Amino acid sequence: MSGEIAISVRGLRKSFGPKEVLRGVDLDIRHGETTVILGGSGSGKSTLLRCLVGLERPDAGEVRVLGTDIFSADKKTMAALRRRMGMAFQAGALFGGMTLSENVELPLLEFTDLPPTTRRIVARIKLGLVGLEDAIHRLPSQISGGMAKRAALARALALDPELLFFDEPSAGLDPITSAELDRLILELQKVFSVTTVVVTHELESAFSIADRVALMHQGQFRVVDLPEVVKEHRDPVVRDFLDRRPPSQERDAESLLRFIEDL
Ligand SMILES: Nc1ncnc2c1ncn2[C@@H]1O[C@H](COP(=O)(O)OP(=O)(O)OP(=O)(O)O)[C@@H](O)[C@H]1O
Ligand SMILES: [Mg+2]
Repeated sequence: MSGEIAISVRGLRKSFGPKEVLRGVDLDIRHGETTVILGGSGSGKSTLLRCLVGLERPDAGEVRVLGTDIFSADKKTMAALRRRMGMAFQAGALFGGMTLSENVELPLLEFTDLPPTTRRIVARIKLGLVGLEDAIHRLPSQISGGMAKRAALARALALDPELLFFDEPSAGLDPITSAELDRLILELQKVFSVTTVVVTHELESAFSIADRVALMHQGQFRVVDLPEVVKEHRDPVVRDFLDRRPPSQERDAESLLRFIEDL
């Protein structure tokens, strides 16, 4: 199936009030690949991700996931499709009143008929995969931020998804913990060859885990290509983002300042 299109997005538009957040998004995501979505804050990355999993309804456009047009699918089809997706979102924290095991068991409870013992065993295996076998009975308040992210990853893996979606998996972590989490995502993706979509701000992570990099700018993709191609891209918007330059107005102010200093 590798190389075939798992998710295709065409002409996606979404506004919140007068603000047009997605302005005609087109994207193809191939089976078995990790696609990393980059872009400045507010560029529409999370909104797009929510559209991809059916949590947000666009104003226009089409999203086909594993062959299903998700906005015209009936409830039953959509529920079956959701079972094939795992997600760990920016704000999608763990449930504080539940142990890590109970958190990971939740999708199993919701989507399967597995008996409690089997659910617990599956949860233990998934938490083991992310190195949390010793913390299964702890509450989210009793673990570090990095462990919480890993637990969220375990929960996303609970149903052996074919598609995995991450929104800022390493946000708020120190660079080392964040690099460990990226490595973990990469390993899991390679082992299970899950089609993975990751939204991130972290450039280093992006280029280390991506098969394909998509750069979002003002509600549209500016470039979608192999990491090495994106890295060398000459489009000024791409360069500004990758070289972390301030927007050009500020850049003008900077050069003016330098000019004055040089006088
Ligand atoms: N439910 C909503 N209601 C109103 N405005 C929204 C809603 N969701 C998102 N927005 C707005 O849409 C814009 C894009 O938001 P989005 O969360 O998609 O950006 P993002 O690229 O994920 O940013 P970040 O990198 O900061 O997470 C923002 O201006 C945001 O305020
Ligand atoms: Mg976001």
